[in-house]
Amino acid sequence: MFPAMAAPPPQFTDAEIDALVETFYARVRRHHRLGPIFETAVGPDGWPAHMATLKDFWSSVLNTTGRYKGQPVTVHQHVEGLTEGLFMPWLNLFHQTCVELFDAPRAAIVGQKAERIARSLKLGVFFKPDAVA
Ligand code: HEM
Repeated sequence: MFPAMAAPPPQFTDAEIDALVETFYARVRRHHRLGPIFETAVGPDGWPAHMATLKDFWSSVLNTTGRYKGQPVTVHQHVEGLTEGLFMPWLNLFHQTCVELFDAPRAAIVGQKAERIARSLKLGVFFKPDAVA
């Protein structure tokens, strides 16, 4: 194998992704507006499975591993109590977690991915082309 053709190493280790997901969702659960939405949707016994899904998701997003196979728009369409106004606190908490866990350039990479996905989720869930203004 020519060195120039070798696959670049993943930018984020599984341990870093675990730390991101665990730290962020621990904070989400304590957040006064986000917490209740997750407790209702995920339920008392659903957290291990939910965390595993989110680790697969971020592994796919950051390292293109293809581990996540779900449909986030469809899932969020069924989240009770989800509003557009909740995306700002979600993103603020996420960015805060990223800057604590990663150096600035890597925090920016993760943060930009989250911003982009949040935008497309918002469009997917709330954009109503047929709505009359
Ligand atoms: C207002 C902001 C958000 C809220 C309140 C929210 C809430 C939720 C809830 C309650 C679930 C669990 C649904 C269930 O299992 O029934 C969920 C799943 C998920 N969320 Fe969010 N979410 C938000 C934004 C985001 C953003 C910005 C991302 C990605 C950057 C994201 C990624 C995911 C993923 C990957 C899942 C798992 C989907 C699956 O089961 O396949 N969410 N979200």
